[in-house]
Formats: sequence, C-alpha cells, structure tokens
Amino acid sequence: MPSHYTRIVLNDRPEGDINASTFRSEKVPFTELQVGDDQVLVQVTWLSLDPAMRGWLRDVRSYVPPVQIGETMRAGGLGIVVRKGKNVKLNIGQLVSGTLGWTEYAIVNAKDVESITVPQGLLDIDYLNNLGMAGLTAYFGLKDVGQIKAGETLVVSGAAGAVGSMACQLGLRAGAKVYGIAGSQDKCEWLEKEIGVTKALNYKSSSFQKDFRDIGYLDVYFDNVGGDILDMCLIRLNRNARIVLCGAISAYNSVGRPKGIQNYQTLISQRARIEGFIVFDYAKRYPEAIAEMSQGLRDGSIKRKFHIVEGLENAPSALPLLFNGGNTGKLVVKVAEPLKTKL
Ligand SMILES: NC(=O)c1ccc[n+]([C@@H]2O[C@H](COP(=O)([O-])OP(=O)(O)OC[C@H]3O[C@@H](n4cnc5c(N)ncnc54)[C@H](OP(=O)(O)O)[C@@H]3O)[C@@H](O)[C@H]2O)c1
Repeated sequence: MPSHYTRIVLNDRPEGDINASTFRSEKVPFTELQVGDDQVLVQVTWLSLDPAMRGWLRDVRSYVPPVQIGETMRAGGLGIVVRKGKNVKLNIGQLVSGTLGWTEYAIVNAKDVESITVPQGLLDIDYLNNLGMAGLTAYFGLKDVGQIKAGETLVVSGAAGAVGSMACQLGLRAGAKVYGIAGSQDKCEWLEKEIGVTKALNYKSSSFQKDFRDIGYLDVYFDNVGGDILDMCLIRLNRNARIVLCGAISAYNSVGRPKGIQNYQTLISQRARIEGFIVFDYAKRYPEAIAEMSQGLRDGSIKRKFHIVEGLENAPSALPLLFNGGNTGKLVVKVAEPLKTKL
C-alpha cells in the first residue's frame, strides 16, 4: 500500500460556475484509513461525473445533504475491495460500486456498496452509465413517469448526454417517434446516425425555433435541461401529454432564483401532466431495468458512448464539461487501472 493517497475536497462553495478555487487536492497518510468491523477499504478505479454534483455544493435542503467544506467531494464510482473488517463477507478483489467520492481510496460500510460481476460482453464502466444511475434514470423516467407508448411523439433534451441518449433509445425501442435536442451539429449527427433518432435538433442553431415547430405536437417531453426549452415544449403539448422533469441543468449554475416557466396554462387546456422524480425511489426495481439494458448492450441494440478523463486530479476541471456541453455520452474519470476487470 502507498504511504499517502490523494483525495479532493470541497474548498469553497461556488456562487455561479465551478471555478479553480471550488476544490482542493490533499495528500493524506495512508495510515488514516482504518477499516471498521463492518467496513471495506476500496481502491477507486472509476468515478462518475454527474450534473447533480453541482447541486450537492449548494448549502440548501435537497434529497441528499450538501457536501461540507473540507469534506471529500461526493461521487458515485467503482472500485476494488483491498481490505475488509472482520464481519464483512465480501472477498478481497471484489469489484463494487457505491458512493466512493473523489479519492484514490475510500472507507465505506460494506452494506452501502453493490458487488458487481461483469458478464461477458459488458464493461465495468457500463455500471456507471446504462446500468448505473444514468440508464436507470432514463428507464424509470421514460417508462414510469412518461408512460411512453408506441406511435407517440417523444422529445428529449440533453439528448446526446448519458441520460438523454438512453432515453432516446428506450423511446425508439417503445416504438415512439423520437426527437433529440442537443447543443452542436456533431452531437445531432451522432444522434441521427448512431442512436437512430427520428430527427435531432440543435438548440444553438438560428433555425431551432422553426425546426422545433416543424416537429408538430408532442406526447412526452423528457426534460433534462429546464429553462427556455421546457417553456417551448409546454406550448406544444398534445392532449394528455406528459412532461418528465428529470433535470434542469440550464439552471444549476444560476445565481439566485432560476427563471420561472411561462407557458404552463397549456397543461390545463391539454389535460397534461408535469412530474418530477428521483431515480433512487425505484431502487427495488433496478434489477428489471438492468436485465433489459444488459441484454440490449450485449446484443448491440443499445449503444453507449463514454467521455473518459484520465486521472483523479483532472476531476475538478472535467466536471464543468457537463455545463458547457463538452461531453458526448457518459462523463467518467479513470482513477486507477482496474485490478480485477479488463476492458
Ligand atoms: N431525476 C433524477 O433522478 C436524475 C438522475 C440522474 C440525472 N438527472 C438529470 O439528468 C440530466 C442529464 O444528466 P447526465 O448525467 O446525462 O448529463 P449529460 O446529459 O451527460 O451532460 C449534461 C449535458 O447537458 C447539456 N447542457 C448543459 N447546459 C445546458 C443548457 N443551459 N441548456 C441545454 N442543455 C445544456 C450539455 O449538452 P449540450 O451540448 O446538448 O448543451 C451537456 O453535455 C441532468 O439534468 C441531471 O441532473 C436526474
């Protein structure tokens, strides 16, 4: 084991965008990592970067407590069990996923990690993407909250991201016409050529308003971004339409209160529904979603794309990519070579 390990802690709560002083890196003596009887020491191999992490930096009430100043930045990840307490049944060398944080080594309660055995034809990092929070969010958001049906028109914003690209594919698999909204021509081409959406629209293009109207009316809007795009969708609802409030990334860095929506009255005239959800509430049903999406990944009918950043030290400068559109697909950080799994 090394004499020291690196962790990245919250240094300062950002007012708007994450900046160079938001996080700081610390070298900590390895001897500080004392494993309790019910705990494991995990060597972190991969970390997931998620838009929600911006929310965890705000000192406000939410579905999880805020990260405290001086605390290791919270993050989901994968790692290998390298030590364990006397009550722990997990094997040394076991691949696990859990909330490990921006650190090379993490002490966690064994009950708070999931053991993963990567089946033939899948990657360990699939468990941070389609088989992890992003995929599960798309799955339950679209199927349960959105109630998507064959023949309906689905619009997905943030469509070239991790959740969005999975929502598009699940919409296509359900037999819907799928329109993806993304922020560059390259992303739109990827969505049309690789993911197979009916049409992709670039919201930064000067013709976006017209392109959007040309779609016609929509039955389900899977909203990853909030703001003006949500407002545009609100006036294009079919009768009994559903708006799935998955995320509102356009407002995550805003200082003060985000701008409100204007066009909500269409919800009344069209007997439509707008509903937020948090994926963790579906935890009991994760196996059903993982089974379907694993099969799709194995037979090639579900596509995935990773944006890989090398090195824990680059996590703070990589996180803002989510807010400036620098990622296509799932943004992950490679912290260490996996000991037990091969890509
Ligand atoms: N409800 C839940 O339980 C749950 C769970 C997980 C994630 N989420 C939400 O799902 C959404 C997607 O998450 P993800 O992990 O898949 O991230 P992602 O889509 O891979 O990355 C974020 C993308 O958002 C787009 N974006 C950034 N600022 C924008 C703006 N102002 N207007 C429009 N688009 C903007 C960027 O793409 P462009 O280049 O296209 O702008 C960026 O690539 C987030 O809102 C997240 O909070 C919700």
